[in-house]
Amino acid sequence: MNTLVEERKQEWEGETQGLAHMLKPGELDLSHGVILYLEDISVSFDGFKALNKLNLAINTGELRCIIGPNGAGKTTMMDVITGKTRPDSGTAFFGQTLDLTRMSEPQIAHAGIGRKFQKPTVFEQLSAFENLELAMKTDKGVWASLLARLSREQGDKIAATLERIRLDKEADRPAGLLSHGQKQWLEIGMLLMQEPRLLLLDEPVAGMTDDETMRTAELFVSLAGQHSLVVVEHDMAFVEALGGKVTVLCEGSVLAEGDLATVQADPRVIEVYLGR
Ligand SMILES: Nc1ncnc2c1ncn2[C@@H]1O[C@H](COP(=O)(O)OP(=O)(O)O)[C@@H](O)[C@H]1O
Ligand SMILES: [Mg+2]
Repeated sequence: MNTLVEERKQEWEGETQGLAHMLKPGELDLSHGVILYLEDISVSFDGFKALNKLNLAINTGELRCIIGPNGAGKTTMMDVITGKTRPDSGTAFFGQTLDLTRMSEPQIAHAGIGRKFQKPTVFEQLSAFENLELAMKTDKGVWASLLARLSREQGDKIAATLERIRLDKEADRPAGLLSHGQKQWLEIGMLLMQEPRLLLLDEPVAGMTDDETMRTAELFVSLAGQHSLVVVEHDMAFVEALGGKVTVLCEGSVLAEGDLATVQADPRVIEVYLGR
């Protein structure tokens, strides 16, 4: 081939390769290894500071636990991350480029932040399988979604998720007949169908049996790496089983941070939280 053409071709390939590394607007940039970054976030309700210059950085693939007394601001922090509550001041970034304080709740969800609330909100009359099917196809209405044919790939994805949340044997059971713990797993499965990069879980094992609690810990540990997780929980056996870094929140800011043993030994943490 003509060398000039060959040179041009190489030049062009080099350029397009360079472009492949560039992000489209609105795409998640994890190039610095930090998926969530909060700096000096403050939120007040009628003069009361629910969050007071809160700082938090979550690494990509990390499994972080947030503990702290009631009213510490844990749920408010999740409200800020998901766009439900706007901070009065401070910075909140998802990856390097997505400014959460300027995005709507649907935009944030679409960008890859999934949240599980305390109360499970599964469709009781539909089977576990159908609940996951719906979660995958939220753009249509309920009946249109169930009537639309599943591709082989979609069916496989649902089956894999059912296995992951330990409901493969309950695939055809109406969700209303599942145990409380199983309903919680189903809802986590529904979140996973959306392939979130960051999962926010507020008191996910409240009301679960000890056995279900430990199985949930195993599930979360298995999700870490592929996903990043921020888990608010009071159950210390559960927090220990998760094994990640722990952040202690108190009066709207970080009181201590480190592995569980270290924060448990911190006299300030004992005073405000563990000692009571
Ligand atoms: N929408 C709201 N209006 C007024 N006060 C609120 C609101 N949401 C939370 N608070 C207050 O903010 C503080 C922190 O609440 P929250 O974030 O729910 O704490 P946690 O989840 O750590 O228990 C509490 O004192 C709570 O009463
Ligand atoms: Mg709360």
